[in-house]
Amino acid sequence: MQLAEVKLGLTEVDRQQGPVQVIALTSGSGGTGKTSIAVNLAHALARSGRRTMLLDADLGASNVDTLLGLAPGQNLFDVMNGDCRLDDIILTYTDGLMVVPAASGTRQLAQLGCNECAGLVRAFSELDRPLDTLIVDTATGVSECVASFCRAASEVLVVVRNQSAAILESIAQMERLTADFGVIRFRILANRVASAAEGEAVFRKIITGLADDHRQTLSYAGFVPRDRHLMQATAGQTSVVSAFPRSRVAMSLVNLARQVSSWPQPVQPGGHVEFFVERMIQNENSGMEVTS
Ligand SMILES: Nc1ncnc2c1ncn2[C@@H]1O[C@H](COP(=O)(O)OP(=O)(O)O)[C@@H](O)[C@H]1O
Ligand SMILES: [Mg+2]
Repeated sequence: MQLAEVKLGLTEVDRQQGPVQVIALTSGSGGTGKTSIAVNLAHALARSGRRTMLLDADLGASNVDTLLGLAPGQNLFDVMNGDCRLDDIILTYTDGLMVVPAASGTRQLAQLGCNECAGLVRAFSELDRPLDTLIVDTATGVSECVASFCRAASEVLVVVRNQSAAILESIAQMERLTADFGVIRFRILANRVASAAEGEAVFRKIITGLADDHRQTLSYAGFVPRDRHLMQATAGQTSVVSAFPRSRVAMSLVNLARQVSSWPQPVQPGGHVEFFVERMIQNENSGMEVTS
């Protein structure tokens, strides 16, 4: 793309916003709490005033809309089919949280290949909405689609429980994402633990279990306590952050949202097909004068 085109292409939205922070949540095994954390982290961010969007990218087993009591008309499947645009399917939850629903149980979506997922990722660059953070709830394991979303994100947050199998599977997942797809930076979040000490122990076990060749850069993103309020909120189809704001779990998620907001913002594309890549390029050049 020529620089002149880039400058001419700047919309008011681009002028008003910086690069979008994209956080992909993933895990080596199912049931670790990815969706619960994605939903509540996204809502906590929206409540704090960040313009936040939640993408349900667990394409085969999506349930973000159910957790939040939303009733999507069309979904990502219709976007992939060319029946509507991404912008048409965005739902709004409390505090302005934008939600992109997927289609539960749609086999075609669960089996998308690399190119089709890259197409989905690219569709985000055309969104005209001002945005600070995109939270992506991906599937479990290392399908091509999970890898595409992780490569396209600025942060990969691996959600792990303190169970031997979950820890081993998260290690295997990170090693594959590194070896086969070049993802090297991960943040570890311990979920459903009883204490800060247990969360730190989970992180230590992961460090010890990873191969000794130092191919990954890992950081600890903290812990979310095991707390029945989360399940109660889920049963009521609401976020725990709204239903039980004073619960331990809600407070830990608000705290995580604060932390996330202070993670370094992406400054330039990383070389893969990325969410909002055009906006990033435009933003880099936005300090230059518009001459035509
Ligand atoms: N911190 C937590 N405390 C209590 N229950 C939790 C917690 N995190 C998740 N859960 C419960 O664990 C189950 C699986 O969570 P879910 O978010 O659907 O996992 P995943 O998306 O990884 O499959 C749900 O019943 C959820 O309510
Ligand atoms: Mg899930």
